Amino acid sequence: MRPATRAVHVGRPPHDVDQPPNVPITMASTYVAGGDREYGRYSNPSWDAFEEALGALEGGRCLSFASGLAAVATVLDLVGAGETVVAPRHAYNGTLMQLADLEARGRARARLVDVADTDAVLAACEDAALVWLESPTNPAMEVADIATIAAGAHEAGARVVVDNTFATPVLQQPLDLGADLVVHSATKYLAGHSDLVMGALVTRDDDLHAVLKGRRDLIGAIPGPFEAWLALRGLRTLALRVEQAQRNAAELVRRLEAHPAVTEVRYPGFGGMVSIVLADADDADRLTHGTTLWVHATSLGGVESTFERRRRWRSEPSTIPEGLVRLSVGIEDVDDLWDDLASALPDA
Ligand SMILES: Cc1ncc(COP(=O)(O)O)c(C=O)c1O
Repeated sequence: MRPATRAVHVGRPPHDVDQPPNVPITMASTYVAGGDREYGRYSNPSWDAFEEALGALEGGRCLSFASGLAAVATVLDLVGAGETVVAPRHAYNGTLMQLADLEARGRARARLVDVADTDAVLAACEDAALVWLESPTNPAMEVADIATIAAGAHEAGARVVVDNTFATPVLQQPLDLGADLVVHSATKYLAGHSDLVMGALVTRDDDLHAVLKGRRDLIGAIPGPFEAWLALRGLRTLALRVEQAQRNAAELVRRLEAHPAVTEVRYPGFGGMVSIVLADADDADRLTHGTTLWVHATSLGGVESTFERRRRWRSEPSTIPEGLVRLSVGIEDVDDLWDDLASALPDA
């Protein structure tokens, strides 16, 4: 099956008479003893269906989590005391904050790199236990050469993790490129409707899967059954949504590049995420407060277009320009999106 078919068909009950075509939500804290499920923190049929579908899309075995950051924390928790993690200087700021927290407590050392500079990343892999990649990065939009970095990192004895939230498995499958583990904020494109928070990990390594499942059982950062059910419903249309968002993004990029008030457009050439840089924070704030269709909100990957000035968050790295606005392009009509955006951009 090709990705669009997998997104629609995997994780459904057998085609038996009187079976529903979707796995129903199972609200259960416990199960009659003696089987594999036992307890609601260990297992849930609604997670299973989502995990089967996302696992099939990424090409590995999936575990769902309460949030993207719960999945990130579960991976970083595997790093031994004093070990080094190579990470993008412009990774999602929650990931950077977790790394800084581990460092402050003497638990790990972070070595921050520009992921677009492959030689610098490879040089940083020396003695590292884990190489964390995010590609494209949020919100700087840098792209990593995952295959080359994964090969080099493995030679140096490091494990490779890729946060695939921006690209989604429709556009990029990091496990095929040599990564050991994929991380998702399922909150974003996978669920796709800005109505839930959830995360996921995917790996081909059965031992690693068992370790991560053990951590999830123990820590309990599990999704609710309803969230898993909704996320799977969203995942069914992932390929369509990504295709339309990407088409809209490419057209908006073309128009934004020609706009005199936009000093820089950062777009890797694929996906629905675009960052633009305006002259300063004031211009950027006027844009995010001046539209009617575009929603001023953090998060991304919904059917509706959203945007925000990232430096409004104090935790955002100071190397992100004050006037940078991150656009999450939705699936609306592109002319409506452009008219609304253009009406709030400065004249020059
Ligand atoms: C790239 C990336 N990774 C991870 C996360 C964290 O996910 P969550 O908000 O679901 O915890 C986010 C959230 O914005 C993100 O953008």
